[in-house]
Amino acid sequence: MIHVKTEREIKLMHEAGKLLAACHQEIARLIKPGITTMEIDRFVETFLAKHGAKPEQKGYRGYPYATCASINDEICHGFPRNEPLKSGDIVTIDFVVNLRGALADSAWTYAVGDVSEEVKKLLYVTEQSLYKGIEQAVIGNRIGDIGHAIQTYVEANGFSVVRDFTGHGIGPTIHEEPYIPHFGEKGKGLRLKEGMVITIEPMVNVGAWQSKMDNNGWTARTVDGSYSAQYEHTIAITKNGPLILTTLS
Ligand code: MF3
Ligand code: CO
Repeated sequence: MIHVKTEREIKLMHEAGKLLAACHQEIARLIKPGITTMEIDRFVETFLAKHGAKPEQKGYRGYPYATCASINDEICHGFPRNEPLKSGDIVTIDFVVNLRGALADSAWTYAVGDVSEEVKKLLYVTEQSLYKGIEQAVIGNRIGDIGHAIQTYVEANGFSVVRDFTGHGIGPTIHEEPYIPHFGEKGKGLRLKEGMVITIEPMVNVGAWQSKMDNNGWTARTVDGSYSAQYEHTIAITKNGPLILTTLS
């Protein structure tokens, strides 16, 4: 079932999203060679508590941490750990803010120290692909239009799009219908309606799109060990077009 949101509900989710964006801005300043993803996880939980919010992922289906922290070939749902990040690494920090019951979800991949030219291109193309998808998130378009725009752009740049994880409706719980693949065909799938709130969160690999699961039952990584990046926003479908809820403004 799809939970369509009222303007008031969207406003509250936007407040959660602004807080999430402010927290990402702080994370961007913290990420350096030597810091651990466990320290970042602690920072996020403390930051949210200070602002009267909760990390919705902690305890969600038994997930043990406030954040997902996926390093290099980890695609998503990496566990925070006590090992320091090093120059040349990339790390995706993904978390969901619950502010007075309103949710927002956003992930960002950060470069640690100096990364290779190929990795810079991966980050650029992945972020751009998110905006290609967002452009399609308008009333009357179909879900396939979003995936098609992302996949076409990513593949034209020589990278691949992960198929095993998708964007999703969000609110009242983290994962709701409709599910939003980051690949697909134009004009196919459900029509987007005013008041839907969805995430778009392309995961893009340098090599093959296939993933494999770690023994912890959560963390997915690339089958060929190639790097994987991800950018995610929460977006409301409105009369005035796509409204990104997870930015500062
Ligand atoms: N933020 C993640 C997403 O984009 C949610 C991960 S669920 C968790 O869908 F349990 F791993 F946290
Ligand atoms: Co999400």
